[in-house]
Amino acid sequence: MSMSLNRRSLLAGAAAAGLARPAGAAAPDFGPVGKPSWSADGPQGAAAAKGLAFGAAVPSNLLNHSAEFRRILARECGVLLGNNEMKMAVVLPEPGRPDFAPADAIVRFGRAHGQSLRGHALVWHEALPNWVAPLLDHASQGQAEDFLRRWIGTVAGRYRGTIASWDVVNEVLAGYGPVHRADGLRETPWLAALGPDYIDLAFRLAHETDPRAALAWNEDSLEHAFDWVEARRVRALKRLEGMRARGVPIRRFGIQAHLVGDHPFDPKAFRRFLAELGQFGLGIEITELDIDDKAFPADPAARDRAVADFLRRFLDVVLDEPAVLNVVTWGLFDGDTWLNDHPDHRRRDGLRQRPLPLDEMMRPKPFREALVAAFRHAPDHAATRARLRQGA
Ligand code: G3I
Repeated sequence: MSMSLNRRSLLAGAAAAGLARPAGAAAPDFGPVGKPSWSADGPQGAAAAKGLAFGAAVPSNLLNHSAEFRRILARECGVLLGNNEMKMAVVLPEPGRPDFAPADAIVRFGRAHGQSLRGHALVWHEALPNWVAPLLDHASQGQAEDFLRRWIGTVAGRYRGTIASWDVVNEVLAGYGPVHRADGLRETPWLAALGPDYIDLAFRLAHETDPRAALAWNEDSLEHAFDWVEARRVRALKRLEGMRARGVPIRRFGIQAHLVGDHPFDPKAFRRFLAELGQFGLGIEITELDIDDKAFPADPAARDRAVADFLRRFLDVVLDEPAVLNVVTWGLFDGDTWLNDHPDHRRRDGLRQRPLPLDEMMRPKPFREALVAAFRHAPDHAATRARLRQGA
């Protein structure tokens, strides 16, 4: 591609993004906020009693096509998000043709059922449309910044006033393996185009666009007791310290919690990490909880027990921390887990994973019982949690 074509395409894509809702245009109508739809004896009911909230990331196609799924989602969840719907690959698959229909469906459903909505994710190195990485690669810093501004302005602008918390950046720390940069950041097209300040910039742009949304940094691989994971926790805290000192408008930290059944978990080390996050004045969200059962026995009952036991150990620590606000699972039932699609997570015996609260038929499993019990037994930090939700 020639430079001029790159530049033209980049600007076309950016302009398409900007055109979605010109300044001053009326906000799209996502319908009125309905009465809370969840049942008092479900996970959200139990969570709410402690100032916590429970929810799930789900795909809009299920929402659109299954009445049973809609009923269960309404009954179980106080928090909702689309697992892919607000990603750039879905919203802007081609420059000039933004598609908000999947995300709109989630937003409408959540509002109608009195659920709190999360936005996921504004800046990520994955789920980029094919045309974006090469364009960022050739863009000047100013062009790249302009593109980011228009993208955030468009998507966060469209949903302004509907989203309680936004994952502004996702998975920005280098993962497993050699870390090439002293600051420990992951090398991504965003970092290459904008330098390490892209993170602060994304928060500032999101805050300008939707000042009332609680802005989050969402990060993976922070939960288990491995040296490389501990090193990531240290790097996350160090960066947060810098962000706070620079006045970056961050209010939340998202811990994904894609747990792996046979990976070690050290309650003490994790508790310390949560407390340190809390000391920055941040609210903490568990954003993508599921438990890979690859190492557990084939027998479904034994497997479900092992998964529930791990969940209990994890949530005992998590819910003790006053700064924890939400627990969100990545999918609500086993028929909708990404783990069967991923080569690292597929079970060797060919059976399907059972990582979520409900089974493939959407019937409650021990995971759900453990979840409800953990919320019921959690200490009552409702006052602190209410303060953090308000951003005070
Ligand atoms: O929609 C197309 C479909 O039309 C096509 O036939 C099919 C063929 O592969 O692909 C479908 O899109 C896939 C989409 O999931 C919906 O199933 C994409 O290829 C695939 O890349 C996408 O994967 C998602 C992944 O993020 C990348 O965006 C997973 O569903 C989603 O669970 C996963 O979620 C991430 C979080 O955002 C961040 N943390 C980790 C987590 C798990 O990887």
